[in-house]
Amino acid sequence: MSKKFYITTPIYYVNARPHIGHAYTTIACDTIARRHRLLGDDTFFLTGTDEHGQKIERAAQAAGKTPQEFADEVSNAFRASWDRLGLSYDDFIRTTSDRHKQGVQALWRRIRDNGYIYKGTYTGQYCVFDELYVDAVGPGAPCPDCGRPTETVHEENYYFKLSAFQDKLIQLYTEQPNFIRPETRRNEVLSFVRSGLRDLSISRSTFSWGIPVPDDPKHVTYVWLDALANYITALGFGSNDTSKFEKYWPADVHMIGKEIVRFHCVYWPAFLMAAGLSLPKGITAHGWLLFEENKMSKSRGNIVRAETIVDVLGIDALRYFLLREIVFGQDGSFSFDALVQRYNADLANGLGNLASRTLTMITRYFKGEVPYPSHTARTPADEAIVDAAGKAITEYGALFDQYQFSRALETAWGLVAAVDKYIVENEPWSLGEKQDEESRRRLATVLYTSAEALRIVTALAHPVMPDATAKIWAQLGLGDIRKFDLSQLQWGQLHLGTKLGEVQAVFPRADKSAIERMQKMEEQSGGTGVSPVQPSEAQPVAGAKPAAAIPEGKISIDDFAKVELRVAQVKTAERVKGADKLLRIEVDLGTEVRQLVAGIAEAYAPESLIGRKVVIVANLAPRKLRGLESNGMIVAASPEGGKPVLASFLEDVPVGTRLK
Ligand code: ME8
Ligand code: MG
Repeated sequence: MSKKFYITTPIYYVNARPHIGHAYTTIACDTIARRHRLLGDDTFFLTGTDEHGQKIERAAQAAGKTPQEFADEVSNAFRASWDRLGLSYDDFIRTTSDRHKQGVQALWRRIRDNGYIYKGTYTGQYCVFDELYVDAVGPGAPCPDCGRPTETVHEENYYFKLSAFQDKLIQLYTEQPNFIRPETRRNEVLSFVRSGLRDLSISRSTFSWGIPVPDDPKHVTYVWLDALANYITALGFGSNDTSKFEKYWPADVHMIGKEIVRFHCVYWPAFLMAAGLSLPKGITAHGWLLFEENKMSKSRGNIVRAETIVDVLGIDALRYFLLREIVFGQDGSFSFDALVQRYNADLANGLGNLASRTLTMITRYFKGEVPYPSHTARTPADEAIVDAAGKAITEYGALFDQYQFSRALETAWGLVAAVDKYIVENEPWSLGEKQDEESRRRLATVLYTSAEALRIVTALAHPVMPDATAKIWAQLGLGDIRKFDLSQLQWGQLHLGTKLGEVQAVFPRADKSAIERMQKMEEQSGGTGVSPVQPSEAQPVAGAKPAAAIPEGKISIDDFAKVELRVAQVKTAERVKGADKLLRIEVDLGTEVRQLVAGIAEAYAPESLIGRKVVIVANLAPRKLRGLESNGMIVAASPEGGKPVLASFLEDVPVGTRLK
């Protein structure tokens, strides 16, 4: 009987472009969704973008765009990237869409009508980076989560009675130990909730980039309430057509990165309980993809784009690497070196080689038709492969269902290794030279056994590597792999006489030049701030004192020294046509005159700037705004909801002086 299966990724912030950290979660979900489809389940796989909030509003401002223009652009980039990677999402939800806004307001009303929302006054610290109210004291106090300075907010807000759900949440985690996986995350959440829950402010009134609160449009909905609701608004919750919601909700799994566990495991179930809706069956948090020990993130600028890997090695190489190399749930490192090494060992020399040698010999010795495995010629070695294949099917499924992708793949590749050894020991190429009946029968059995084991690995690996396995399947003469029913997979389904397709290599070997090409592509795109293979700063010089560990969220003095801040004098300034916020400015740096484009037109009339000394980031990579090249950035304070104020000096400073 077919079951329904609903899986979600986080919806990604549109404050910067997609990278392989986002691809990691989306690929894991895509793989799980593909396995469920192949097992015959009615599967719904959701992803999308998170587009509201102060962080996005400011990123848009910095780019000289309206929040909507900015969100459209980046959301489209996410979608284009997922399409390019062949990810099989069934829907892509945007929080700026009408269907989402309508759903969020419906959810708000339900929670309110059930008595869990009240109005109060909040004075305290807010971390814009995390979009989170935090326990920190005083203006600029560091956020306890990320260390960035917080902002003091004083506002009349709507509150959610989170405190009313403390016991119910504890009961939930206790009665359903698999609600949060892995267990380390469950324990963290449990102790957080046990330490006491305070009511949560769920509206903001100091900026407007959000969903208006029903019946009080001066307020916008807190971004996390807005964002979490995507998991139901995408199914039509709050709309006229709730058929999908009725069919697919509750979600079978929300897949997330470990930094957003609290929002998903505490706030989200509490919101749902308050609204009287059923809870997701489980939330699984994976670890971080690191790049030279640091979390790969847009704010750190040490990102790698999936497209680069896809262009050089193909999407399957990236998918296999991420799921095989990293223990799901734990942090794992990415490097081009490790990627190419895995690719060559497991794919080019492993599965690829098994496919090409087996299929080539069937073509040569049996005119491309699957031969008959003679039972009278069956040996213990053949039996061992049959047993190993049966075990691989069972173990792979069990491990995969616990999202232990790495171990599942290890099991399947154990079968690849066993068949390789079997082929070497049985020397089909020598049997092929002999004409006697006995050798022919033995040859047929060895090649059948190898081809059948290849078919089984191919079927198991299909959700992980959809393209390459589809090709091997077709080369086995089996047609479209997506029509195969994985729930029926067992030994002996390869029929004799099956005509093979054209045999072609699926994983050509990669050499050093592949690494160089990928590095170069990333450098040119301005993606990685650091070189992935020669981490000059990450490796201490022999004999030198190792650098002291830098706490998460802090930077070293060397990091700061990378930013070249200089005093510059404005020579000319003019408005940029068609952009209300932008000015084109030429500044004198003492050694050269630079053109900059700055989003300060609403605060400063161009003529008022001439002759003024400003601070600029002089070594910022050039970028284009409205077709104009900008070579640096003017430093300004950006008060909440107000206009930017240029940094300046009380004393006179010579043009070109460095700030340090
Ligand atoms: O948090 N390693 O969006 P976000 C592993 N909008 N996973 C990574 C990663 C890395 N280096 N970088 C990103 C948000 N991810 C909110 C979510 S959901 C209702 C709202 C993945 O753009 C990982 O899944 O910061 C992480 O949780 C997510 O991207 C964060 O994306
Ligand atoms: Mg994030």
